[in-house]
Amino acid sequence: MIDIERLAREKGHLIDKEIEEVFSGDVPNLHDAVRYHMDTGGKRLRPLLAILTYEALMSKDARSASSAEKDAKILPFAAACEVLHNWFLVHDDIEDGDKVRRDKPAMWVKYGLAHAINAGDYMAQKVYELILNSRKYGVDNEKTMDLLEAMVQTSLRTAEGQAMDINMRSASPSEKDYMDMVIGKTAHYLTVPMVGAAILAGRKELIPKLVEFGMAIGPAFQIADDVLDLTEGKGRGEIGRDIKEGKKSILVIHCLGKCSETEKRELLVILNKKPEETSGEDVLVAKHLFEKYGSTDYARKKADGLKGQAMETAKSVPELNELLVFFADYLVNRKK
Ligand code: IPE
Ligand code: IPE
Ligand code: MG
Repeated sequence: MIDIERLAREKGHLIDKEIEEVFSGDVPNLHDAVRYHMDTGGKRLRPLLAILTYEALMSKDARSASSAEKDAKILPFAAACEVLHNWFLVHDDIEDGDKVRRDKPAMWVKYGLAHAINAGDYMAQKVYELILNSRKYGVDNEKTMDLLEAMVQTSLRTAEGQAMDINMRSASPSEKDYMDMVIGKTAHYLTVPMVGAAILAGRKELIPKLVEFGMAIGPAFQIADDVLDLTEGKGRGEIGRDIKEGKKSILVIHCLGKCSETEKRELLVILNKKPEETSGEDVLVAKHLFEKYGSTDYARKKADGLKGQAMETAKSVPELNELLVFFADYLVNRKK
């Protein structure tokens, strides 16, 4: 049985050391701003997925080395995956007008908009610098180029997905539009840690199956995130923040397709209000409509179906099956 909390603790400090080194400068409102954001925490899921995939693909002999030694080649790439995630989060909070991230003021609130945009730009370039640093640990030029190619394509797909997310606030998207959007904004950068691990382990032939797995579990992860926003909350001190932001979550799309014309107008009025003008009462009205039309259950079932699909794909990669099945389950059933 994989103990994710223990592994996150054990590998977390290796990742954090790599990240600390690369942001160790002292330009005011830049290095301190990035360190502030990175210290707000986060589950470090993507670097963990990179490291564990890499270890599972190693020979038995290589696996018996100490943690720092056996992970040396994957560490810069694993850290790059975490920095990419956080670069998008810094900009995402500006795009979404979110003032709180991981229960702390968002970077743009603490350091101002101009610095947060610039710090995000800086983090973006650090993603590529980290990958180039892999060469110091003996990664050859060909593999470094393959890692760069994978990360560039991932960044492009993520930014496209973010644009679709923003476009959807003023549109009436279908479930297919939603799936395209979440594959763009979430699935690609949840997949790239596994792709990078396969490149570094010299197992590029596994990439198509890993991508197939990621394109199913990525949307499932985002749907679970949509549900969490309304149930446990997402580190913002409130539930229903997505409703305030007018996000077209899977719950909203399902509900709009089922409710009456009057309810549809009512829900759209709430979603179209400015976040600061959306009351707690509005959130409850939307939540009530989701319950009335079974939208939360629908979302959970949809995530479970995608998880099943991902697990089916995982069977065709026997050496990663246990790890991928574990991750699929964790990503969908997590409580934070
Ligand atoms: C949140 O991702 C954003 C999405 C892509 C849904 P995580 O849930 O991995 O965020 P942290 O890093 O743990 O805060
Ligand atoms: C997170 O998206 C950012 C990316 C996936 C790039 P969301 O806006 O859906 O998630 P939170 O609520 O800000 O974490
Ligand atoms: Mg957001």
